[in-house]
Amino acid sequence: MPNSSSAKNNILHAVKGYQEALDHQQELIKTGTDFNEQKGQVANTIATLHPKRLQLVVSEVIEDTASTKTLRFKAEGIVLPPFQAGQYINLFVNIEGTETARPYAISSAPQQRGYYDLTIKRVADGYVSHYLLDDVKAGDRFQSTGPMGTFYHNPLFHGDDLVFLAGGSGIAPARSMIINMIENTLTHRKAAQKLHLVYASSYEADVIYENELKQLEKEHDFLTITWLISRPTEKYTGRTGHVNAELLTELLGSDLEKLQRKMFYICGPTSFHDFCAQQLEQLKVKARRVRIECNGPPKHPETLTGWPQDLIASDKVSVTINKADGTQGQFEARVDEPLLNSMERNGYSAENACRSGECSLCRVKVVKGSVFNPQEARLRSTDEAYGWCHSCVAFPTSDIEIMV
Ligand code: FES
Repeated sequence: MPNSSSAKNNILHAVKGYQEALDHQQELIKTGTDFNEQKGQVANTIATLHPKRLQLVVSEVIEDTASTKTLRFKAEGIVLPPFQAGQYINLFVNIEGTETARPYAISSAPQQRGYYDLTIKRVADGYVSHYLLDDVKAGDRFQSTGPMGTFYHNPLFHGDDLVFLAGGSGIAPARSMIINMIENTLTHRKAAQKLHLVYASSYEADVIYENELKQLEKEHDFLTITWLISRPTEKYTGRTGHVNAELLTELLGSDLEKLQRKMFYICGPTSFHDFCAQQLEQLKVKARRVRIECNGPPKHPETLTGWPQDLIASDKVSVTINKADGTQGQFEARVDEPLLNSMERNGYSAENACRSGECSLCRVKVVKGSVFNPQEARLRSTDEAYGWCHSCVAFPTSDIEIMV
């Protein structure tokens, strides 16, 4: 009696064309071609170029300023995926047993294929930045997502007259984009873009990459940099103040039509990009000429339009979680803390990347109760209608029950 594997072989060989397919496969193997790819299954290739998780190791910790360090990450066992200057990776961390993650813009340029630099500034009331700045050392291992995000220069639609409005550590993606454009201009002999960086910092001591940027400006006449300090010391003699409509017309020219044709990239803290966006609106710059880097959930949701009037930031509600495996959990959460953060602090999670309401990976369904969805939560109308929220920017405003 034939065993089951030879019986299966006999049946397969009886199929018309089976032997030809085997012969073709052998030919492809000889030439080193990926048979799966030939079959149209390109998942392996895509997974190599854009893996869901990257295994990274810190190769260097670079001191930038008293409040900022650059962590240089190299890949473990893979080649780092390419990225568009301006994109971010979401870095997963485990801080005393709490699994969470934060997106950081890559500050190195994409031409540099050996590593990603992440420039981290200390956030006074932050959680992850203290850990990354105080505890992380060369040799530490991390996981991250691949590069993501839509904050990058699209030469077809954005043109070549570009203005970067960078606030604080928002200089990180701007630096990557500026170096990328300079490299492209020099290496590929592309037409030089006109680049104007307006770099705003609170104090002189906060300025990052100062020498490097000054050197770039000296070497390339198509790059102009305006330095702005909002809380200067007495000895500071440079320009002070904030990025406002008056300053922009002074720097970029009072010909409004010309100014409106420029492309603006705003990167910095939420309050900075909200203010800059308002100023550009005042100057009648169309929304499609403005790109804004996503930058986390709002810090004070209780100050936003639509927040329930009877609710104060320190109020607490109960969150009940129904998991896909049928188990249930419950915890207490502050109403002003993003739902995803309170889930993580209590040992639950949802897939996430942007943590700014943009990518929709962290969707959870609210079965009972209500959440506050700020403007950042770019919910599809069907999500809204059926009770889904982006947990990274949703705030529970009553006792809630959710499905993850
Ligand atoms: S993590 Fe991207 S929308 Fe929440």
